[in-house]
Amino acid sequence: MQLLMMGPPGAGKGTQAARLVKKYNIPQISTGDMFRAAVREGTALGLKAKAYMDSGSLVPDEVTIGIVRERLAKDDCKGGFILDGFPRTVEQADSLSKILSELGKNITCVLNISVPADYLVERAVGRRICRKCGATYHVKFHAPKVESVCDECGGELYQRADDNAETMTKRLAAYEESTRPLIDYYKRAGVYVEIDGRQSIDKVTEDLEDVLREKQ
Ligand code: AP5
Ligand code: MG
Repeated sequence: MQLLMMGPPGAGKGTQAARLVKKYNIPQISTGDMFRAAVREGTALGLKAKAYMDSGSLVPDEVTIGIVRERLAKDDCKGGFILDGFPRTVEQADSLSKILSELGKNITCVLNISVPADYLVERAVGRRICRKCGATYHVKFHAPKVESVCDECGGELYQRADDNAETMTKRLAAYEESTRPLIDYYKRAGVYVEIDGRQSIDKVTEDLEDVLREKQ
């Protein structure tokens, strides 16, 4: 299955993609995670991406499309993948179609986790991530058993640099301007499915699995 996980910042894309990875045994490809890893490692890509991410704007298309093209060519994508947070612009979506047709693949399904803006700042600001294994928590909606400690591996939890109210306002504006138009784009392509992301994390997973049961 070639899945696209879409939705505004803080909607639950990463949380749900991580669960689907376990169930379907296909890799999660998050452009946000790839950029953050590059920033940590201090690579040229990281240096380029950092200023955009810190200000809440999108990294330029040519940079983003290049890293996705390379990633999708890897062996572990042969049996399918979950793209999380890509594409986010019409140009990225057009490039993805080209990349997939070169690979002889198509999009199985676009899963849009739909959440209204007034939920999203609280979700992002309360998010905590494990430094060691990347597991995602929320101080209110999905709290770890011991504060600031990962349930899975005991790693330390941290807060993302862009998870503050000010940057979230800009991320939401970038979503409205550049990414929301992809809803109609993928509706027209006949691969679009919307999931109500206001529900609990477990209920959203159930709804996603219901959709995917029919696609396998
Ligand atoms: P990225 O890392 O993709 O950030 P994002 O799109 O802003 O999305 P998030 O990761 O913030 O949210 P999510 O939907 O994954 O939510 P999560 O599951 O963690 O991108 C970061 C930056 O990189 C961008 O701003 C841009 O600069 C750059 N970038 C990345 N991709 C790009 C691209 N394609 N083009 C250009 N630039 C790009 O959940 C959030 C919180 O809510 C967690 O705490 C979680 O526990 C909680 N939660 C989840 N689901 C629920 C629920 N159902 N109920 C209650 N709480 C919930
Ligand atoms: Mg994410």
